[in-house]
Amino acid sequence: MIEKDNKEIQEKIEKIIEKVKALPTLSLVVAKVIQVVSNPLTSASDLSKIITVDQALTAKVLRLANSAFYGFPFRIQNIAHAVSILGFDTIRNLALTVSVYKIFSGEGNEGFSHQEFWKHCVGVAICASLLAKKIKYKSSEAAFTAGLLHDIGKNFFEQYMHKEYGEVLKYVKDNKVPIYQAEKRLIGIDHSELGKLMAEKWNLPIELKAGIAYHHYPEQEKDEQVMAYIINAANIFCKQKGIGFAGDDIIEPISKEGRLLLNLDRTYEEMIMNSLEAEIKEAEAFFNMPQY
Ligand SMILES: [Fe+2]
Ligand SMILES: [Fe+2]
Repeated sequence: MIEKDNKEIQEKIEKIIEKVKALPTLSLVVAKVIQVVSNPLTSASDLSKIITVDQALTAKVLRLANSAFYGFPFRIQNIAHAVSILGFDTIRNLALTVSVYKIFSGEGNEGFSHQEFWKHCVGVAICASLLAKKIKYKSSEAAFTAGLLHDIGKNFFEQYMHKEYGEVLKYVKDNKVPIYQAEKRLIGIDHSELGKLMAEKWNLPIELKAGIAYHHYPEQEKDEQVMAYIINAANIFCKQKGIGFAGDDIIEPISKEGRLLLNLDRTYEEMIMNSLEAEIKEAEAFFNMPQY
């Protein structure tokens, strides 16, 4: 595919924006969960009542809560128990992730395995949560979820512009450029810009939006810049370590500002690299989560 002229690109972007507007909403249950969790008057029993309305969601949240990733020595039997053990934020984020990924399914393009893609996302989530804990970011749980969702724009391209995305993947291979640059060149909008529109459409919490929208341009994020840098660095670490595959294997450096903000030095980087592997082994439940 040759690079398109401006007018054609503009029209294409407008069509994409229309498609994002027409995306299914997150389930009513999840919308409600997001809403009540931010209300300080909500009790654990209010939250569990809302989730248990949706049986499939309940089953998935319980499966994750009981996974080796959280490592409880006892079985969490119901949502009320899960809420009291894991907390509001974790439950909100689990529900959110399950619901977002439910919207996407379908065949992968050649060179874009859903399994490998998901592995990349889980790797970034784990790494982001480690980085967040190190600098005592306000919520390592939000960093984890932003990691799971950071490349969600690629799911949109795969599902709604499947053929064109195949050409983007080929362009990446032939020209050895990062996938977000190839998207921008051939489609006119990249997966992070697209992710921003999706986050807005779904009213995702602001820190998740920052991780999704600015993980390739963290310096441009204004409100939640730390989160943007966390996801940017986690994405780079996972590529360095070869955890999963999300469309290209070009490793860009972490900027000086990013290193400063995240308190990164060589020793810590090595530590992260080493612990990442062990942590990922425990996250098997997450690897199997989406029903692709
Ligand atoms: Fe990305
Ligand atoms: Fe990524």
